[in-house]
Amino acid sequence: MRMISPFYIGSILINPPLLSAPMAGFTNLAYREILRQFGGVGLIATEMISARSFVHKEARGEEAPSRLWGIADEPRPLAVQIWDNQPETLAYFAERLVCDYQPSVIDLNFGCPAPAIAKNSASGSYLLKTPEKVGAIVECVVRAAGKIPVTAKIRLGWTRGTINVIDTAQAVESAGGAALTVHGRTAQDMYAGKADWDAIAAIKPYLKRIPLIGNGDIKSAAQAAEIFRKFPVDGVMIGRAGLEKPWIFRQISQLLRGEEMMSEPSLAEQRALLLQHFDLLVRQMGGEKAVILMRKYATCYSKGKYGARQFRTAVCAARDEPEFRKIVQELFPAGE
Ligand SMILES: Cc1cc2nc3c(=O)[nH]c(=O)nc-3n(C[C@H](O)[C@H](O)[C@H](O)COP(=O)(O)O)c2cc1C
Repeated sequence: MRMISPFYIGSILINPPLLSAPMAGFTNLAYREILRQFGGVGLIATEMISARSFVHKEARGEEAPSRLWGIADEPRPLAVQIWDNQPETLAYFAERLVCDYQPSVIDLNFGCPAPAIAKNSASGSYLLKTPEKVGAIVECVVRAAGKIPVTAKIRLGWTRGTINVIDTAQAVESAGGAALTVHGRTAQDMYAGKADWDAIAAIKPYLKRIPLIGNGDIKSAAQAAEIFRKFPVDGVMIGRAGLEKPWIFRQISQLLRGEEMMSEPSLAEQRALLLQHFDLLVRQMGGEKAVILMRKYATCYSKGKYGARQFRTAVCAARDEPEFRKIVQELFPAGE
């Protein structure tokens, strides 16, 4: 079996070589705190943050976007993901991040397929149509970020018929990018079908200097170990599975080190975790917002469990903090 080693993004050691994916609406400060509690994540990412919205808010003297909450003070390493299609806007935001927040890594979003981003804003995965524009953006942001490494997160291409991932990968590397993450789908795929890990692996020989991080559909520790065994990636990034099992990174890191793997938390422990997660959100955003936001997490935590539907319906109807806590105590699924 090949050695699975930590790797560097610029001067930042990614150890273990497991990254938690940026997920808009989910990977806020509270979730990042839950991940750190379990450990096993080499690099945690924020949600994607709009460079344009930062610039506009600043110009109007408004508070910075709420997605920046926590970033200044939380532990490192931390990757802040940003998006737009204008090199200058992204470069300006990167400069401000370097000055005011000092993240470990600045990650550029070239993968989001959501219509609001890709179609209406010609950003995210829309930029995959033009690898030279991706290169121009990376180059500009690398210059602005100084010593802070700049990475890119991409998909295989815009459509299955126009896969151009090698061109994009090379554009990122020659523009000074410090790592490349590839989600093994196209923009057109959205989340349908399966991530194509062969297509991710095919990029490796074309990268001379920078690490390759593969992403897509990893659901268990065994599957992550299998990915490392089969494909020449330096690291793997996990998104959705971490929302259902924030402890998955710890399990994978133990498995990779040949240590005994922690067992799944009991249902009582999972219920306590959900309540702790809720408390963190309440502290950060206030009860009203937390009750609404928690609907999504409660759905993730209860997925696949007996009684999950009834639980989710009740959680979505919860009107305030006490009611939410009561529902979790009484209705959190008691069986798989
Ligand atoms: C709800 C949700 C929000 C996401 N938001 C982002 C984002 O802000 N930036 C990004 O690059 N990718 C985003 N993604 C894509 C993930 O980072 C990841 O590439 C994708 O979920 C595949 O990995 P997985 O199968 O491990 O979940 C999002 C995915 C989901 C499900």
